Amino acid sequence: MKLLAPAKINLFLKVMRKRPDGYHELRTIMVPISFGDEITLEEAPSGIILDECGCGCAAKDNLAFRAAGLFLERTGIPGGVSIGIVKKIPVGAGLGGGSSDAACVLLGMNDLFKAGLGRQELVALAGELGADCPFFIYRKAMLMGSRGDVPLQEVTLEDRAYLIVIPPFGISTAEVFSKFTFPLTPDGNGITIDSIKENCIEPEHWVLNDLEVVAFDIHPELTRIKVELMKAGALKAGMSGSGSAVFGIFESGAHLCSVMSRLKRHDGYSYIPTTRLTGDIYGDYRGQGVSGQG
Ligand code: C5P
Repeated sequence: MKLLAPAKINLFLKVMRKRPDGYHELRTIMVPISFGDEITLEEAPSGIILDECGCGCAAKDNLAFRAAGLFLERTGIPGGVSIGIVKKIPVGAGLGGGSSDAACVLLGMNDLFKAGLGRQELVALAGELGADCPFFIYRKAMLMGSRGDVPLQEVTLEDRAYLIVIPPFGISTAEVFSKFTFPLTPDGNGITIDSIKENCIEPEHWVLNDLEVVAFDIHPELTRIKVELMKAGALKAGMSGSGSAVFGIFESGAHLCSVMSRLKRHDGYSYIPTTRLTGDIYGDYRGQGVSGQG
């Protein structure tokens, strides 16, 4: 079984307050995009075999490996699984790669072993693996609350083209949150659920990320990337999650294509034109040969 584990961008990310559990309460609009890792799952006689984790960590620390372990433990299924990952989403980019791989393994194994877990059960398992994981069970644009793990409202977006710029370095989420300080005067830019309930929203009007100031301080070159995207004609540009990836929103694919030729490219940086994951691809994790490129 071949699956797509899509990346996400955070169109909007507002840090509301520090929580007693040490995490930060967030309101964030997360959007799955048509670019991601390719995951292959096959039944194995026993145990979990991880082919290529590409995360530079031991297999047992890989979130996809842990997802498979959690799934086998909770369902009591006696078999094993072999997981292959073609890593395209870099670690530390704020694109949710590890979380998406893990959610994809849960979705795929549920199908492969015909375990019959419902969406809420899968979401609960995903929540045990990390704050970003539950979103990838839904794989739809969502306003998420709490630590970024609780869906508040599905969001419908106008069609746009996105250019994801991935720098040759990652940023630690823990470091960014630890350096975050709340502004002395709240900006009053509170997102309300009602304001995104209405029909389609224009994504460029929602681009905001409270963590940008911290990440741009750690890596000032990210400011330059954002400025270059705007100069090239992006409707809006912003950082995803805790960085390091920066995205630009363009009117259409044709517009983005015309911009690519005049956009300054930097050595070591990846420039990935894509779209949001469309309804057709949603739920298509059973499909064969799904490509990561939109
Ligand atoms: O979810 P993840 O484990 O990737 O988060 C890494 C770290 O980022 C957490 O241990 C926490 O310190 C911080 N974090 C936070 N508030 C969130 C999400 C993450 O403070 N909502």
